[in-house]
Amino acid sequence: PSLNQVYNIADFENIAKQILPKGAWAYYSSGADDEITLRENHYAYHRVFFRPRILVDVSEIDLSTTMLGQKTSAPFYISATALARLGHPDGEVAIAKAAGREDIIQMISTLASASLDEITEVATEDQKQWFQLYVNADRNIAYKMVANAESKKSIKGIFITVDAPSLGNREKDKKIKFEGDTDVDLEDNADRASGASRALSSFIDTALTWKDIDVIKQKTKLPIVIKGIQRAEDALKAAEHGVDAIVLSNHGGRQLDFAPAPLQLLSDIMPVLREKKLDGKMEVFVDGGVRRGTDVLKALCLGATGVGIGRPVLYSMSAYGEAGVTKAIQLLKDELEMDMRLLGVTKISDLGPEFVDTRGLIGV
Ligand code: FNR
Repeated sequence: PSLNQVYNIADFENIAKQILPKGAWAYYSSGADDEITLRENHYAYHRVFFRPRILVDVSEIDLSTTMLGQKTSAPFYISATALARLGHPDGEVAIAKAAGREDIIQMISTLASASLDEITEVATEDQKQWFQLYVNADRNIAYKMVANAESKKSIKGIFITVDAPSLGNREKDKKIKFEGDTDVDLEDNADRASGASRALSSFIDTALTWKDIDVIKQKTKLPIVIKGIQRAEDALKAAEHGVDAIVLSNHGGRQLDFAPAPLQLLSDIMPVLREKKLDGKMEVFVDGGVRRGTDVLKALCLGATGVGIGRPVLYSMSAYGEAGVTKAIQLLKDELEMDMRLLGVTKISDLGPEFVDTRGLIGV
């Protein structure tokens, strides 16, 4: 279908499933074990309803906001996903160009299939990107990666992923042999014979702890963010360690099955942070299962500063390259603008818990 016939994010997923090589589809779409968390991530959004305001002047809607102190055109960002070239030869570079055009922040994976140089070189003058760090067992490699990221003008933050001390059990992915299904040239020569995610395990360290966060924090002036927080105690600990932000995330349901849905976590954790007056000190991002403008709004109402999108970007890029990602971003922006109007709010900072009915979530 032509891009004009794509009406929403789900359409991109359906098209990607048709056109992607089997191995790439398996790698992108899979979740851990029985994929309960993968589904729950999205379903949690179905349990929250709006409390719209009427007769508000909504002629002007402003979607712009700030994340880690940087202005951006909308309250969502592109989360880090490995191996974009499995889906399209332009890979992460296509994503970077679309993000630049739309003034959306892109988080670049340690395991990107294009080099950091390639992905940052196409950035526009004031484009913002983030670097996602998998802390290598060889810490010097990790520190070098941080220094290299910091040397790029566009990079405005380091996101350390902490929910992958071991790779989740993605069976769809394991069933397809990585080899022969793609011509992606992995720089690290990871073992291509096993499933794609297995191949990346050399970047994963079982011994990562809070001490490493402190050390990395000392090595850079960039904001440090922990990606993969899943309970209030750890959110508080992150604040104690002085990180600039956290991401409530279960890695898109790809790690521990039965990990809680990020939206549920947000509603559980924000009150704890507010009570300790930490909500203004540490930004809270959330990702997983976000597919609609309404999903983004619900997370913002519950206190998120920004919302990450993973698979939708891979799917739109795989099917249509840069134009697809641009369209996916525009669709979400259009939905957001209309939904804000219908909700009776004109700017992001107006959103708050009073706009949502969370009784369908699990209460405390
Ligand atoms: C990911 N994710 C991820 N996260 C990370 O920190 N580093 C990485 O390299 C990757 N790689 C990756 C590959 C693929 C194929 C997927 C689907 C996801 C997780 C990602 O950043 C994000 O947490 C989830 O994708 C969000 O869920 P949705 O939007 O995909 O439902």
